[in-house]
Amino acid sequence: MSSPRKAENLDSVYDASSPEDVARRYDAWAENYDSEMSSLGYRHPTICLALLCRHLGHGSGPILDAGAGTGLIGEWLKIVGYSGAEALDISEGMLEVARRKGVYDALHSAAMGQELPLPTDHFAGAVCAGVFTVGHVGPEGLDELIRVVRPGGVIVITVKDRLWEDGFKARVEQLRASGTWDVLEETPSYVSMPGRADTVPSRALALRIR
Ligand SMILES: C[S@@+](CC[C@H](N)C(=O)[O-])C[C@H]1O[C@@H](n2cnc3c(N)ncnc32)[C@H](O)[C@@H]1O
Repeated sequence: MSSPRKAENLDSVYDASSPEDVARRYDAWAENYDSEMSSLGYRHPTICLALLCRHLGHGSGPILDAGAGTGLIGEWLKIVGYSGAEALDISEGMLEVARRKGVYDALHSAAMGQELPLPTDHFAGAVCAGVFTVGHVGPEGLDELIRVVRPGGVIVITVKDRLWEDGFKARVEQLRASGTWDVLEETPSYVSMPGRADTVPSRALALRIR
């Protein structure tokens, strides 16, 4: 078995100091992102897709890929038969790679954690993989995802364990108790990049808007 790899681009984005800094670091990484993540055995897109497929039939309506990056999830959404996917990301460089793949109906350059330039109750589903993580977006990013997904729609997210204990767990439970969503599923903690040394585990959740 090969030994765990260093992942300098990844370490760099975890160290980002502001949303603008995150965008700059991903812009610089964009062209090599897919090959590097592949070599690390990156699992979030596969796991998110599995949860989405279990809880949202294709033909349900448009799907938002929030923090879509280079469009790994968009590629697979198209292959398994979902249409009408839209990408949103803070990094123009990542969106440009996604655009070239031709798998999204629309691409939106915007920052999660702020108001999104998207209509209310519009999407049948939203996926957000690898974004609720160190140095990226905290639980404040959930409110706008909830706003843009229609009642009955499904949101699939991944959350790094460190953030889970630091506000996410409480916010997910608060939103359940207040009747905003049902928690359909929560995976056990798993390592999202098994090829990387020192990986902090994450979990994935499927949530249905009431
Ligand atoms: C680890 S990548 C994941 C990309 C894609 N979801 C995937 O699984 O391959 C994190 C992505 O989140 C984006 N991102 C980080 N902070 C963001 C924010 N505040 N708003 C929107 N996108 C953000 C980054 O630009 C990057 O494309």
